[in-house]
Amino acid sequence: MTVSDIFETMDYGTAPESAAEALAWIVDQGSRFGHFINGEMTPPAGLFESRNPANGEILAQISQGTQTDVDAAVKAARTAQPKWEAAGGHARAKVLYALARLLQKHSRLFAVLETLGNGKPIREARDIDIPLAQRHFYYHAGMAQLMESELPDAAALGVCGQVIPWNFPLLMLAWKVAPALAMGNTVVLKPAEYTSLTALLFADICGQAGVPKGVVNIVTGDGTVGEMIVNADVDKVAFTGSTAVGRRIREATAGSGKALTLELGGKSPYIVFDDADLDSAVEGLVDAIWFNQGQVCCAGSRLLVHEPVADLFYAKLRARMDKLRVGSPLDKSIDVGAIVDPKQLEMITAKVAANTAGSTHVAACEMPYEGSFYPPTLITGLYPADTLMQEEIFGPVLVSTTFRTAEEAVSIANNTRYGLAATVWSENINLALDIAPKLAAGIVWINGTNMMDAAAGFGGVRESGFGREGGWEGLAAYTKPKSKPKPLKSVEAMSGSGTPSGAIDRTAKLYIGGKQARPDSGYSTPVYAKNGTLLGHAPQASRKDIRNAVEAAHAAKGWSKTTGHLRAQILYFIAENLAVRGEEFAHSLDALQGGKSGAKEVEAAVQSLFTYAAWADKYDGQVHGVPIRGVALAMKEPVGVIGALCSATSPLLGLVAVMAPAIAMGNRVILSASEPFPLAATDFAQILETSDVPAGVVNILTGPHNDVADAMARHMDIDAVWSFSAPELDKVIEQGSASNLKRTWVQNGQAIDWAKPDAKTFLTQSTEVKNIWVPYGE
Ligand code: NAI
Repeated sequence: MTVSDIFETMDYGTAPESAAEALAWIVDQGSRFGHFINGEMTPPAGLFESRNPANGEILAQISQGTQTDVDAAVKAARTAQPKWEAAGGHARAKVLYALARLLQKHSRLFAVLETLGNGKPIREARDIDIPLAQRHFYYHAGMAQLMESELPDAAALGVCGQVIPWNFPLLMLAWKVAPALAMGNTVVLKPAEYTSLTALLFADICGQAGVPKGVVNIVTGDGTVGEMIVNADVDKVAFTGSTAVGRRIREATAGSGKALTLELGGKSPYIVFDDADLDSAVEGLVDAIWFNQGQVCCAGSRLLVHEPVADLFYAKLRARMDKLRVGSPLDKSIDVGAIVDPKQLEMITAKVAANTAGSTHVAACEMPYEGSFYPPTLITGLYPADTLMQEEIFGPVLVSTTFRTAEEAVSIANNTRYGLAATVWSENINLALDIAPKLAAGIVWINGTNMMDAAAGFGGVRESGFGREGGWEGLAAYTKPKSKPKPLKSVEAMSGSGTPSGAIDRTAKLYIGGKQARPDSGYSTPVYAKNGTLLGHAPQASRKDIRNAVEAAHAAKGWSKTTGHLRAQILYFIAENLAVRGEEFAHSLDALQGGKSGAKEVEAAVQSLFTYAAWADKYDGQVHGVPIRGVALAMKEPVGVIGALCSATSPLLGLVAVMAPAIAMGNRVILSASEPFPLAATDFAQILETSDVPAGVVNILTGPHNDVADAMARHMDIDAVWSFSAPELDKVIEQGSASNLKRTWVQNGQAIDWAKPDAKTFLTQSTEVKNIWVPYGE
């Protein structure tokens, strides 16, 4: 080929990156790797192969971890933790900074090794994975430095078990390790079995960075090792991977007291309006679904196109797809690399082959002869309910449908069990900002896609998991309050007998949808005073009553859109009405509990209402300065419908102090009142009736918590369950929550001081942070 030929065709040749340095590092390590435990590499044992998916060649032999290895790693982490935490934020910041610097110094080696093991284009490993991993360590070096001044009440959780996937091997390690270490935790991390090499190179630099022995431990192997880590004596489990495994981990850790964050799958919508810059939106799709061969949890894998421009857009898209270059991941000029493993390739092939709907366009690009490759594919004309519109493919396959109106776009976008990310393309800023809050997603990108940064929290809602990684909110996943909580004491209901002669029967009712309602079972339980006299009967709520309450709560969804000011006004009004009847409530609380603390409890309940009325219009989000031509608006959104089992003690305050933060933030609640002292709650329903609280915003049930805990936890339309009730229900709730991976907040046998609860904790539990990336400035 002559220069003039090249000039004529504008074709470009290959630009291979050298693998020599990375392969030499593997050979230098003996090509057989053990685990990294207590600062040392263990002798290799139980070896399996790590292959290059681009050509099937064996790169190295990796050790399959055993229970003994996991135990040794956890023990090392446990031993190292107190000293690491006590060293202080500045000492930890220096180590994290050294790690960031070393990642930067060795970035080429890391990038090539990542590409060899994973099959991703070197351009991506070099320009995205490795720089973002460095950025995470730099950012969290800063968080370690600021911990003492900015989070004075936060302490480390202890030992964190971390299990990561193969799609961003080093970046996921950075996301897990950096915040954990910054906050004074130690870690036992398992990389995915296909892609262990960069984690082992990271182990190599830990020594150079001055990471003390036992602070970082890396055990390699398959899912069975992951299970061992999950079941080990760790204080927290952090997982990124498939929703199926996430669900199993939720069940396995239920009732164990271990903190848990899950970052799972997605089927993220990519919405293109007719006024969008269509060429940019097409280019965005290259980053949304062909980035990393579509093996991205937040991939824009579901394209929704505005009908008037659909034909034009698809034509542009097909033309762009046909020009994508698929080939050797080490070639700097390719767009699409290899699928991580033949098994994943088989899975993608089978999912696409099983589809008979729509029309399929396979990119007309040249495909490599060997290796694990899949061509960029577009399937148009699908219905929202088609399998491929609902199921994650986790490959370079884009599925699509059209929409007519913005409302329809939102409803199709939200028609999924996932809620990780969403992308909106429109030149109309009003439209884009109107849509963003309506999308059920943890992240929304406007006129851009797949942007990530350590300063902006990453994570989803619904079955995409819970917890955030990055930003200030990400630190909550690695800290706990410093104060030592008191153990929860069990409280028995008062006993008595019979009906006092001459008294009028008093049978309270449930409060559902703004109305007093009889329980579906028709049963009620007698409630006695300390002296044994009958005070009345409390209804026994069952599954059916929960269903009714959920329906009512959903009908009240308008509450979530009201202003903080309005919600504050209503909370003040409840306080006012409660104060007016304060004496009567105090008297009946004294009768119920047999003490003299009723007046104090009423006063504290009024204060609680004032506190959250105050917060209703002040618990604001943040604006993150992210280094990618924009800002990320971290908006605090309500969680949705929250079910709560109230504390046995403080029957009025324990209900009010749970209800107030939740509704102040725009949630609707279903409260199961104090089990031994339910009548304070049924009386409180009368206050709500006179306080302008819209029907369905607050629903109050009474009866045994045992009967409702599981039903609440398994209900698909409840978004979170909180429990301040008996510790044995924690397991029931956490296990049941695996159904739709709802958020749970249980107390693990610790008592809340209802007179002085930590308002910030309640507000955090009442909100989800949605990061909306908006173009800003240049
Ligand atoms: P996976 O969820 O099985 O693997 C992720 C990690 O979990 C790996 O380190 C694995 O060894 C470990 N693991 C597996 N079973 C475990 C268990 N029972 N307990 C603890 N750890 C366990 O994902 P897999 O099988 O590699 O990929 C299957 C599908 O999962 C993909 O096609 C994709 O749909 C989804 N996936 C999603 C990811 C995401 O980032 N959201 C990442 C990887 C996979």
